[in-house]
Amino acid sequence: MTQSPLPGPANSTADIRLQLRSWPEVEAYLEQCKGVIVPLGSTEQHGPTGAIGTDALTAEAVALEVGRRSGVLVTPVQAFGMAEHHLGFAGTVSLQPATLLAVLHDVVLSLARHGFERIFVINGHGGNIATARAAFAQAYGTAATRGLPNAQALRCRLANWFTAGPVMREARDLYGDKEGHHATPSEIALTLHLEPSLVAKQRPLPEPAPAGPIHGPEDFRRRHPDGRMGSDPYLATAEHGERFLDIAAAALVEDLEAFLKEPA
Ligand code: NI
Repeated sequence: MTQSPLPGPANSTADIRLQLRSWPEVEAYLEQCKGVIVPLGSTEQHGPTGAIGTDALTAEAVALEVGRRSGVLVTPVQAFGMAEHHLGFAGTVSLQPATLLAVLHDVVLSLARHGFERIFVINGHGGNIATARAAFAQAYGTAATRGLPNAQALRCRLANWFTAGPVMREARDLYGDKEGHHATPSEIALTLHLEPSLVAKQRPLPEPAPAGPIHGPEDFRRRHPDGRMGSDPYLATAEHGERFLDIAAAALVEDLEAFLKEPA
């Protein structure tokens, strides 16, 4: 039997939060594990009843649960993402693709400099995917040109919790085509579990505008007047959210373990 590359379950999330570690503790951690989890979210409208912070809250919660189960360190959440198309709605804060690319590039390079070789980005927002992949490509190039000793071993992986197989199956079973594509009941359910005060916002909503192509912020608001794309977030419950957290974390721990096992 091959040994697991995971450090092993932590007693609490306090043990795996990078923010709560000292630098000697991080150095000691690197002696046994080169993996680190970076939660990536967005701060954007989630329909008339969903929290602006949905994508950051969910990505961070899944990341901390994956960290707790695996023992792998978790950085602070990057709560601002690429949400240009949501800027037609109050409260949305967006990084342009080039800005997010630069932020993720610098995060990866900082971690790589200390000896982290497996950067596992747990993402909560579809709009971040293309830019995150571009950032990884750029980071590999920079690591090599800067001559970082571990440049050849550096790997980044994007793990979208909401597209994990078991999560998508559960969402389909619970909500069918009312899962939709934005302000989905699955992500809203997770926020209701994490933050019980959000339940008070829940109310029945009219038929949503269907999902379709995404262009600029004005066009988005014209096509999707209340911010939803084909979803009925009123179907979400905190109990569903607890289940989504459990199955998302289980799926991503498996993915993380395989990622850490991959030879350089
Ligand atoms: Ni979202």
